[in-house]
Amino acid sequence: MSEVRDGIIRDNKGIDFNKLHENTLNVLSADAQSEDFELIPVKDPRQTMEEMKSKYAIRFPKIGVGKTYLIKTYGCQMNEHDTEIMAGMLREMGYTPASGVDDADFILFNTCAVRENAEDKVFGEIGRLKPLKRKNPELILGLSGCMAQESAVREMVAKTYPYIDIVFGTHNIHQLPELLEQAKHSQETIFEVWEQAGEVVENLPKVREHGVRAWVNIQYGCNKYCTYCIVPYTRGRERSRLPEDVVAEVRELAKQGYKEITLLGQNVNDYGIDLKTVDFADLLRMVNEVEGIERIRFTTSNPWNFTDKLIETIAKCDKIAEHIHLPVQSGNNYVLRRMNRGYTREYYLELVGKIRQAIPDVSLTTDIIVGFPGETEEMFQDTLSLVREVRFDNAYTFIYSPRKGTPATRFRDQVPEEEAKDRLQRLMDTQYAISKEINMKMKDQVVEVLIEGESKTNPDVLQGRMRNNKLVLFQAPRDTVGKLANIRIMEPQTWLLKGELVEVLEEVGV
Ligand code: SAH
Ligand code: F3S
Repeated sequence: MSEVRDGIIRDNKGIDFNKLHENTLNVLSADAQSEDFELIPVKDPRQTMEEMKSKYAIRFPKIGVGKTYLIKTYGCQMNEHDTEIMAGMLREMGYTPASGVDDADFILFNTCAVRENAEDKVFGEIGRLKPLKRKNPELILGLSGCMAQESAVREMVAKTYPYIDIVFGTHNIHQLPELLEQAKHSQETIFEVWEQAGEVVENLPKVREHGVRAWVNIQYGCNKYCTYCIVPYTRGRERSRLPEDVVAEVRELAKQGYKEITLLGQNVNDYGIDLKTVDFADLLRMVNEVEGIERIRFTTSNPWNFTDKLIETIAKCDKIAEHIHLPVQSGNNYVLRRMNRGYTREYYLELVGKIRQAIPDVSLTTDIIVGFPGETEEMFQDTLSLVREVRFDNAYTFIYSPRKGTPATRFRDQVPEEEAKDRLQRLMDTQYAISKEINMKMKDQVVEVLIEGESKTNPDVLQGRMRNNKLVLFQAPRDTVGKLANIRIMEPQTWLLKGELVEVLEEVGV
């Protein structure tokens, strides 16, 4: 039943999760697990972005006029940005945003597959929509994002949630308009999931969240194959956008009045490896030249390949904000090796030292997984000691979640759930105390903040971010939104700082 053309699968079966990177196999063989795996060479066409860029224009049939849409987004910024693009396409088709599920004509779940609980939540919500679908057969339900790339999920949809109308993946979001058109005439779920990245379609419309900060994709996919992670399978291999396309988009954003941009990729410091002519530091320098942009952020970096040139660039370019999200995952070398992270604890600590020396005010945040298979209490203590040594500003902490098809699920020594939960709690307690201590030191300091808009939790106050990404809440007139201001920190807390306005600064570049 499966029809595969040019690496595109057109049925609900599919992805072969056994395509493993050679590095991963090396790690596994060290643990005598390699017999579990079959290496199927991954086709690496090494297409350049130029070759991949779409030659055809997307059609936007006006079938959404008078209709409304709702997109529920889970997971990382890449997904949130995909949602902005899909919303942009829907607007082109005439759709307007719905106020809730009850008055929506099209509901789309843009999903995350990184941990199992996120997936369970999505299925729970889709289950709750069944009565709505019965009441309004015209309602169209869609599932997109990383879950859609998993064959097990597609089988589940076919079996348990056949009332979902369209399922499409991370490589073909530009097909949303045509899928919606097809859905009008189809009684069955339409599965349109590409196994591999096809052409990159530039210049799709986007509806950005607000007018001050914007995300800009610089790279798609990930080649790192950490043994726990599903992203290389759901987002494909690393592809960098051409620097001129990135710079053109940033220029356009500056023209529209955006002040801050965040360059997005699963692994931004690998940017350009496929292009061969430019690296991430070069791109940062180019973006730093764009007039009107005041702050540049990027996420996510990988400790591997975080070069001296990159550190120097961040230190030297005035617009690059002093914040680096540098996932460490574990402080123990055995665990790091089994995770296939490609660095050691010592390397990571040395890197942090170099970064802090070159960028003294830098704020460092990280991701950490506890309960990775084989992690003993002693190994976990290495993670705690690393956290105490580095003193991160913040850490996103996770319990290891086995993802079907990833190598780590085959490791035999899984950590019992209770044990993992206990480690997570101790890790969080340690980090919270550090985050609070760091913030407390900021009392009475005057800091520069870019005013973003109303606080998400209290519309009576405005929120802004310091260059190092810390969130600050304060009272100020609405017309200061989009401006830089000096704020005196009055009441530091663990996750945010409350302050008062000292002065609004002249806008840079005006
Ligand atoms: N480079 C990506 C990382 C994606 S996953 C990015 O841009 O954010 C985000 C984080 O989720 C990882 O850094 C890791 O700490 C965590 N994670 C990934 N797979 C996981 C798994 N199977 N179980 C628990 N946490 C996981
Ligand atoms: Fe996942 Fe590791 Fe890439 S965490 S996104 S495989 S760097």
